[in-house]
Amino acid sequence: MADPETLIEDNAVVIGDGFIEVSYDDLIPNNVDLSSDRQLLRALEKWQPEYIDWWKEMGPDGFQTSDVYLRTAVGVDPAGWAKFGHVKMPDYRWGILLAPEVEGRTIPFGKHKGQPVWKEVPAEYRSLLRRLIVVQGDTEPASVEQQRYLGKTAPSLYDMRNLFQVNVEEGRHLWAMVYLLVKHFGRDGREEAQALLERRSGHEDNPRILGAFNEATPDWLSFFMFTYFTDRDGKMQLASLAESGFDPLSRSCRFMLTEEAHHMFVGETGIGRTIEATCAAMKQAGITDPYDATRIRALGVIDLPLIQRKANFHMSVTRDLFGSEISGNAAAAFSAGLKGRFGEARLEGDDHQLENDTYAVTRVTDGKLVDEATPALRAINARLLDDYITDCQTGIERWNRAIAKAGLDFRLTQPHKGFNRRIGEFAGQFITPEGDLVGEDVWSARKDQFLPTAADMAFIDSLMQPCHAPGEYASWIAPPRSGINHQPVDYEYVRID
Ligand SMILES: [Fe+2]
Ligand SMILES: [Fe+2]
Repeated sequence: MADPETLIEDNAVVIGDGFIEVSYDDLIPNNVDLSSDRQLLRALEKWQPEYIDWWKEMGPDGFQTSDVYLRTAVGVDPAGWAKFGHVKMPDYRWGILLAPEVEGRTIPFGKHKGQPVWKEVPAEYRSLLRRLIVVQGDTEPASVEQQRYLGKTAPSLYDMRNLFQVNVEEGRHLWAMVYLLVKHFGRDGREEAQALLERRSGHEDNPRILGAFNEATPDWLSFFMFTYFTDRDGKMQLASLAESGFDPLSRSCRFMLTEEAHHMFVGETGIGRTIEATCAAMKQAGITDPYDATRIRALGVIDLPLIQRKANFHMSVTRDLFGSEISGNAAAAFSAGLKGRFGEARLEGDDHQLENDTYAVTRVTDGKLVDEATPALRAINARLLDDYITDCQTGIERWNRAIAKAGLDFRLTQPHKGFNRRIGEFAGQFITPEGDLVGEDVWSARKDQFLPTAADMAFIDSLMQPCHAPGEYASWIAPPRSGINHQPVDYEYVRID
């Protein structure tokens, strides 16, 4: 797989050709001319030290004084938007960067299709819009909290650096949403910005808003699964918001997608390298049966069926993030022109208003799974979920090619979309990964084949031994093909103090 820079191009995020200078004289690097809006600047300068407090309390545990080889966004020019260098994480320049304005842009969908985009919040949609921004914003610090203990067990300095890179960028995504709240929503925006620093992932009384963001990320396989599957939900949500008729949100999300591509790269290559190590160790030991877990695990690598069970868990939990497949809220956000479909502006074959269209939604009717024609407006979430499932497949195919190349008879697959769901059409149903609707008894009897068991998790945990010397990699993961920003794989990506 290509290095992250190329991947950014693969992701086909067009941020335009305009280059906007970033003002580094200000405390907060930005290309939104912050210094001209005293009130906004003051509000953000007040929020900034509280953010740093949050970062120190809830960000990476340890390593806060280590020098980390990080990418910092310094502009929005596709040819050179980032610079690399060693920085201590609390000194990272979290900035506010919007993709350039597109001259004459019109609202691409919904009731207001064809009208000029909004530069200010349309009064009638104020609370709906605020909610969309808050829900997106809440996921950003949540993942940092979920991943905060992983540095200690990093399988290499390269991986540790990638973890921290993802973390600081999620921090910047929080900044991006807070900017919109504070600039465009007055006092309640400032209150929401505050609350984003107060909720805590997994907290009993004040949890993060969405379920998957309250799950633990206890080990590195979970982290790679999270960055491949759950950050990809982030991509889908950001892409839908990038279509928004509220232009500041659109421009903000368009630039965030540029960074998001690297997060999914970390996940895809992380799982890919795990598979590579497993295949190589099996080959060397002359093991051909992928299900011979005892012998495979004795080699210090993760058996492929366990990787499948882990993937099943992360896929099902992430699919719940799309919300109910049939949703009045999603219909309202679409009609209002606030949140579109994936690739909305480029979609062909309908009028982008969807008043008279239908979309096939899989539902459970009379004890059977059936695809039912549903008013398309109410099926916006179902469609985004389907697009997400398609988007997940590319990496899975790449992993399968590596397994086939190693001569092993095993394929990773995506479970049926109704598998193990808590939200939406399939909540409360028992559906196997193959898509069979079964009773609870059958499910319980077979559950250990579908999802990781306590013993599986304990095994993964036993592998989480730190490898913190340059060029050293844990047994269960192969070194990457190339380093970050053309540096070697044994580069000192983190200078642990
Ligand atoms: Fe993010
Ligand atoms: Fe992300």
